[in-house]
Amino acid sequence: MIEKLNTLPEHIAIIMDGNGRWASQKKLPRTLGHKAGVEALKEIVRYTSSIKIKILTVYAFSTENWKRPLEEVEYLINYLLIEFLKKEIDEINRNNVKIRILGDIKPLPKKTKEEIIKAVELTKNNKGLLFNIALNYGGKDELVNSFRVISEMILKKTITPTDINEKLVSKYLYTANEPDLIIRTGGEKRLSNFLIWQGAYSELYFTDVFWPDFKKENLIEAINDYNTRNRRFGGLKMEE
Ligand code: IPE
Ligand code: IPE
Ligand code: MG
Repeated sequence: MIEKLNTLPEHIAIIMDGNGRWASQKKLPRTLGHKAGVEALKEIVRYTSSIKIKILTVYAFSTENWKRPLEEVEYLINYLLIEFLKKEIDEINRNNVKIRILGDIKPLPKKTKEEIIKAVELTKNNKGLLFNIALNYGGKDELVNSFRVISEMILKKTITPTDINEKLVSKYLYTANEPDLIIRTGGEKRLSNFLIWQGAYSELYFTDVFWPDFKKENLIEAINDYNTRNRRFGGLKMEE
């Protein structure tokens, strides 16, 4: 049970890690770990949408994940993502969920891009949960892109360097939305290039549970833990 419904985090971000280890433990190929990971994701999208979380951002594929064996990369971006979107899009749309992609989709295969564009287009006016999928996403890459846009503006003299501030840098990121809570499953305690700007004041929650085993009960545990935190943002302790 969620103990304090009135203080739900508005924006939850998840580093869905541990699919490979989940599969190895069961002597299965890593790809089946990813497949099981999609099942976990479906449950979490349904649940977050039902409890009126405003934003769910999940890390699906990083700019560094291209280093993996071709077979695994292809399974993830040629097959699994397309399958997920094809099978789930109707329910996602019915639940008023809006899909957005964070990351550079240019290098993705044509079919994957088409499916993504379809899903984004179909759900663009939905007003329920904003479901961000970080795909070919890197926090450093995102900042570099923002700096490029800003440099162009300086060259064109639409702004001067003194106009650069946090708001402007945020404006050209894939998202300016700052997560209240970042959850990482799978036991590692690092951000792995996820939301490094937006996560500056996020509460971090780490669990050893592998992503395919992460159920709504685990999310509730994370939310309850979040609700015990005292967020100060550099100021003084806030009154209860
Ligand atoms: C996370 O699970 C999914 C992706 C990075 C795509 P992993 O594949 O990293 O699983 P482990 O960390 O090897 O167990
Ligand atoms: C982070 O997990 C990326 C995703 C979950 C998509 P990784 O498994 O790639 O991270 P590292 O390599 O352990 O830091
Ligand atoms: Mg991993």
